[in-house]
Amino acid sequence: MQVLENFSLKSLNTFGVEAIAARYVAIEQENDLQLLFSDNQLKNYPRLVLGGGSNVLFTNDFRGLVIHIKIQGLKAEVQGDDILVTAGAGVVWNDLVNYCVDNEFAGIENLSLIPGSVGASPVQNIGAYGVELQDVFHSCRVFEISTGKIKIFNKEDCEFNYRDSLFKSSGKGLFIITEVTFKLSGIFKPNVSYGAITEELQKRGIDQPNIKELSQVISHIRVSKLPDPTTIGNAGSFFKNPVIPVSKFIQLQPRFPGIVHFPAAEGFVKISAGWLIEYCGWKGKVVGNTGTWKNQALVLVNHGDATGNEILSFSSTIIESVSSVFGIELEREVNIL
Ligand code: FAD
Ligand code: EPU
Repeated sequence: MQVLENFSLKSLNTFGVEAIAARYVAIEQENDLQLLFSDNQLKNYPRLVLGGGSNVLFTNDFRGLVIHIKIQGLKAEVQGDDILVTAGAGVVWNDLVNYCVDNEFAGIENLSLIPGSVGASPVQNIGAYGVELQDVFHSCRVFEISTGKIKIFNKEDCEFNYRDSLFKSSGKGLFIITEVTFKLSGIFKPNVSYGAITEELQKRGIDQPNIKELSQVISHIRVSKLPDPTTIGNAGSFFKNPVIPVSKFIQLQPRFPGIVHFPAAEGFVKISAGWLIEYCGWKGKVVGNTGTWKNQALVLVNHGDATGNEILSFSSTIIESVSSVFGIELEREVNIL
């Protein structure tokens, strides 16, 4: 374990913005964390735990210690019809999905091709195409920074919610996730509830997809809508889809009959932030080095040499624009640093 100084984070964030970490350390195994936090100087630096950097925006150099989680490992244990799959926090999320799809461990296939690491997946309870992490989550191992102890958190402990968890709220900055266990099934029941999936299956003439076909269809839809971070910097959806009370929705709908919405908890409606942004005229707009993606207005992009502050400032313009038309305050999904 080596602590490096003045380390460039440009290749470690999918926005591709430049930021220098005063100190950087790669963690390959859980024990490294014990060692790291036994150093009185290092343990008192401001710190950032980093996985694949696909949900962060650096607006400054990071004047503390970046702890890059690279813990590997993948194993499966069959328990009747259930399969418990355990992965190290540094495993690439899509490698885990491919391993499960190849072995026909079902439940995770709708989360195909999401960038990032296994360790970050519980942080915002990643979700796509009708499935959220919490639907397949069993437990995770965490390193508690204040005590140096390893703890096991089950689903209830993690307080999962839409794009939210304990790790983003009251437990923010307190824990480092080192390993996640998923409860998958040996019996594949395709979840094709999300509109775009049925359309694509019909196009391919597939009636009952197998697990591999479903994973491929989802990957295809994602590639058609979302920019590839290796060619154009982005962090996926920049904002959350706002969840508003039904009473507010009833006022808005007659004025905006096309407003795209989805079911949410009782008494609430989830609104498509992409539709709101597109309605305000921002879809595909290029503003300096930044803008929104031409096929998905919810995704802010780096067209070249954008700084984090340029992207942040553009996101504020969008928030104001949507607020002035709809009276809805968009909340950023991406972690601003
Ligand atoms: P990072 O960006 O490295 O970190 C994200 C946050 O998690 C930070 O606050 C960080 O401190 C914390 N963190 C990271 N690792 C750990 C750890 N081991 N322990 C504790 N805290 C940690 N998200 C979705 O939910 N659904 C999607 O469909 C989706 N599509 C995307 C498409 C694209 C093209 C891109 C670029 C992003 C997309 N995302 C999506 C967002 C992103 O992929 C997820 O949020 C992912 O889980 C981030 O993983 P990461 O390893 O890159 O996390
Ligand atoms: N829409 C528009 N204009 C746009 C974008 C979307 O009108 O520019 C409308 C369309 O009607 C479209 C609908 O919104 O059919 C839904 O769009 P999409 O399927 O792309 O989903 P989303 O609600 O925009 C969410 C997640 C994505 C996830 C997809 C698929 C959030 C914040 N985003 O996007 O997650 O991949 O659903 O399930 O919940 C991410 O979190 O980074 C992310 C990419």
